[in-house]
Amino acid sequence: MEGGVLYNSSTMSKNTPPSEQNQFANKAQAWSARFSEPVSDLVKRYTASVGFDQRMARVDIQGSLAHADMLAAVGVISLDDKAAIEGGMAQILEEIATGQFTWSLDLEDVHLNIEKRLVELIGDAGKRLHTGRSRNDQVATDIRLWLRGEIDVIIELLRQLRRALAQLALQHTDTILPGFTHLQVAQPVTFGHHLLAYAEMFGRDAERLADCRKRVNRLPLGAAALAGTSYPIDRERVAQTLGFDEVCRNSLDAVSDRDFAIEFCAAAALIMTHFSRFSEELVLWMSPRVGFIDLADRFCTGSSIMPQKKNPDVPELARGKTGRVNGHLMALLTLMKGQPLAYNKDNQEDKEGLFDSADTVRDTLTIFVDMIGGIKVKAEAMRAAALQGFATATDLADYLVKKGVPFRDAHETVAHAVRNCEEKGCDLADLTLAELQAFHPSIEQDIFGVLTLEGSVAARKHVGGTAPERVKAEARRVLDQTEGD
Ligand code: ARG
Repeated sequence: MEGGVLYNSSTMSKNTPPSEQNQFANKAQAWSARFSEPVSDLVKRYTASVGFDQRMARVDIQGSLAHADMLAAVGVISLDDKAAIEGGMAQILEEIATGQFTWSLDLEDVHLNIEKRLVELIGDAGKRLHTGRSRNDQVATDIRLWLRGEIDVIIELLRQLRRALAQLALQHTDTILPGFTHLQVAQPVTFGHHLLAYAEMFGRDAERLADCRKRVNRLPLGAAALAGTSYPIDRERVAQTLGFDEVCRNSLDAVSDRDFAIEFCAAAALIMTHFSRFSEELVLWMSPRVGFIDLADRFCTGSSIMPQKKNPDVPELARGKTGRVNGHLMALLTLMKGQPLAYNKDNQEDKEGLFDSADTVRDTLTIFVDMIGGIKVKAEAMRAAALQGFATATDLADYLVKKGVPFRDAHETVAHAVRNCEEKGCDLADLTLAELQAFHPSIEQDIFGVLTLEGSVAARKHVGGTAPERVKAEARRVLDQTEGD
């Protein structure tokens, strides 16, 4: 189809009224000179992408302008043609922005819709735009331009999110809650430390996207349909105009692989996975049984039947939406795996999942940046929970080790003490010195500094530890890294 005569007037029925001829292709597709019958309406809908790829209109025009500029620079089209193309495209951009542009399903996709309108507006100069180009390298270029813009927005949102987490962390360097393993009380941690764990995850997500961007930011144009073109094109010039770091070095690869989109979807799936874990905790923390936090009302909804309910809908939905973003990654991998070189129409299916992944990540980030600032922390409830479940048992064992007791013996001794406390219904810190000494004679008065929650967290002051002073330093480090607003 590529390279066929576009906009051949013979595709129009002789009886087509002039107004419809202007609308172009009410009777046939742009490439249909060699076809003897039109496709059915269902096939037309099945094969068209204009319903969803119109969102690439702006980058499609950007790519076309760079292509036209290059064609003029190498003398394939005249400077007058280039100027006409620029004028026409400016008007089309305006029509799209103001909602006046008429998108036609008959014209299949965003590329043909725009090109057809250009021809309507400027005639022959518009018909010359597609010289040395194919929709195959055009669409690959458009997706890369579009995705590059999305990546930049998402990296910026990740910065804001990490900043919000670090700001809240800085307010809670001394707030203690139980840290869990297996969802059983393990050891006390500071809430600031817990929040900064997510700042780390989202920091890696930003790194991943920055790395993915390098491979997104390469220019396919010039590959044409698959084999390159016989025109004396200047790909470097186009790359420079469009801000690409380099050109794709193999035409077959340039039009066919979507690995850069798969990478993005993998990074998006990880971002959502991190959100999903955080959301699970927010939901749990907000349950009245736990009561560690409250979320601002604007992120929650009530129940139509149970008046007492305040449901954490936003985190629940973030957790749920993770499923579809993970699904898009699988869809794209599966889309790619059976395709022979070079371009196949299968690739048109790359867009909806990719768009939805980016939209979902953007929306989730935007909402969470706002929501985190409004988390109401119930420090008393956190503290009360940390005092249950013998969270400082490890500290008692470590204390004995420091007094010369082998760790395994210390572990055994503390297990006895915990059992004794369970029977009595008290905490380790509630035992008297004499009672503690009954478990091990080397226990002395200084044990009480160790068995408190504050003593436990303060002792973990190495890099990566939960001590308030360390958390303060880490929060400040994240704030420094994310400075910008
Ligand atoms: N809409 C198509 C896509 O999204 C554009 C490329 C079509 N190329 C072709 N030869 N049919 O992939």
